[in-house]
Parts: sequence; C-alpha cells; structure tokens
Amino acid sequence: MPRLAYANGRFLPHAQAAVHVEDRGYQFGDGVYEVVSVLNKRPIDMDGHLDRLDRSLRELRIDWPVTRSVLNVLMRQILRRNGIRNGIVYIQVTRGVAPRDHKFPKNAAPSLVMTTSKVNHLGASRFRDGAKVVTIPDIRWTRCDIKSTSLLPNCLGKQTAAEAGAYEAWQVTDDGFITEGTSSNAWIVTDKGELVTRAPTSEILNGITRISILKIAEEEGIDFVERPFCKSEALLAREAFTTSATSFVTPVVQIDNTKIGDGSPGRLSKALMKHYENYIDTLSEL
Ligand code: PDD
Repeated sequence: MPRLAYANGRFLPHAQAAVHVEDRGYQFGDGVYEVVSVLNKRPIDMDGHLDRLDRSLRELRIDWPVTRSVLNVLMRQILRRNGIRNGIVYIQVTRGVAPRDHKFPKNAAPSLVMTTSKVNHLGASRFRDGAKVVTIPDIRWTRCDIKSTSLLPNCLGKQTAAEAGAYEAWQVTDDGFITEGTSSNAWIVTDKGELVTRAPTSEILNGITRISILKIAEEEGIDFVERPFCKSEALLAREAFTTSATSFVTPVVQIDNTKIGDGSPGRLSKALMKHYENYIDTLSEL
C-alpha cells in the first residue's frame, strides 16, 4: 500500500496530497506545526505536543481545524495506516485559503495536513560518536516560543551547519548568549558540573523533549538550572547536548573548532539519553 498523507479531511497517496496555491501557510508562513516521534510503536509525548499546538494556535488566533480528540485519533490513524514503527508524524495547521492579503481573512477555514516518515532514530551514529555544532548569529523574531512554520532563519542556519559538516547550528544573541539550535534546544554541563539550559522565554521554543528531560532530571535527583549561558561558557563546558523530538538527547562533542570535554559524548548526556529511552518504554503503544 502506498504511503498516505492527510490533507483537509482526506487520506491520499503521499505524492497526490496537495494544498491550494493560496493557502496562507504557503504564501505567508501563516501556520504552526508539530513533529511527534514514534519509537517502537510508542508515540512520544503526544499530549505535550498537542498542548503546545493549542498554545501556538491561540497565540496566532488560528482555530483548531478539528477538535483535539479528533486530531489525536487522526494522528494515530495515519501512523498505523503507514505502518510507522519508528519514525515521525508531522502535523501542520495554517490559517487556511484566502485571496492574498496580509490581514486575517474573515471566513477561511484552517487547513490541516499530516505526513509521516520512517526514521531509524536510534541507528544514528551521533548517539555513539556525538555531534558537531557551529554557532551563528540569532537573526530570528521575538516570538520563538510559537512553533510557527516560518522557519527561514532556521533553514539558513541549518544549511550553514551542513556546509560546515556539522549536525546543528546554535544561535547566539548580540550579547553573546546561546538561545537554541535551529531545530533543537541547547544544553551544557558546566566545568563545575552544573546542568544548564535556557529558561523557556519567548526567545526559544519550549521543547517538549526539553520538558521531559527536565522532569527526568528532577526524578533522578540531577540538579539543573534554567538560565542563559554564553558561548564562552559553552566552549569551556564539560559536556554539551541538544534535545528535540527527532534528536532525543544528542551529545555535542565539538562547538565551532573547540572540543567539548575530551571530545567524546559526556557521561551525563549519555545517562539522560538512557533515562529518556527508559521513559519512552513506559509510554503506551499506538
Ligand atoms: N524542531 N527549538 C526549535 C527551534 C525547534 O524547531 C525544535 C523542534 C526544538 C525542540 O522541540 P521539541 O523537543 O518539542 O521537538 C527546539 C522539530 C523537531 C522540527 O522542526 O523538526
């Protein structure tokens, strides 16, 4: 059976699913999205992702395209129909189709699109070898807490990383503080052993993985602090890692040209990844 995509009420073969040329997501990036990973048939933190979708929609005054419980069912349905044991489901909601005009249309119905992909998450070599990141200026807007589909600065940053042979780019404010990656949150373990990640202000996306890792740290009695950290502190860190729905806990072993710690994945980074995998094992199957 061909892979299916969902577009505005219909499951269609992936290659045939399409949206209208005047969809505001396409013209203005006027939409929001979520990415939920599935590991061993277990969707990870579905509720957390739906909570954040709700928040993003409310911030942009976009209506839910279907009710939350219907979306929950549709997400599980597409994952099951596409036989996703390990992979992701991508959900996108835009303000809908309307003649091009910057201000909100009066009667447009929000568009809902969903796709899935198979991903062998744990097969990635970065978990064993660690990843390299580069730093770039943070040129984004001041509402990075909204998971908007307007991702041009993030795309430019990720391309810079790719061209430097790096996995991710960490974005740095004018005053030298690291906000987050282009598609992940940034963490360090300082030279004094303090686990640090930035607090969830409007300068970062409050990652659902980030929230789960903080909860795990609390349960495991691992002290942490949510505060800004600057690039020079990161370069001196004992460990660094990134978190996201698709990268889980990815150890960072190099930032720009500086090795972090001894240049191999750090002890705490690996322990948190292990705890995260154990936590996923407790989640219910599709
Ligand atoms: N990105 N920060 C940014 C800018 C992100 O785009 C993401 C997620 C995160 C981590 O959030 P979460 O833990 O909820 O995945 C932080 C997704 C995976 C993406 O764009 O593909």
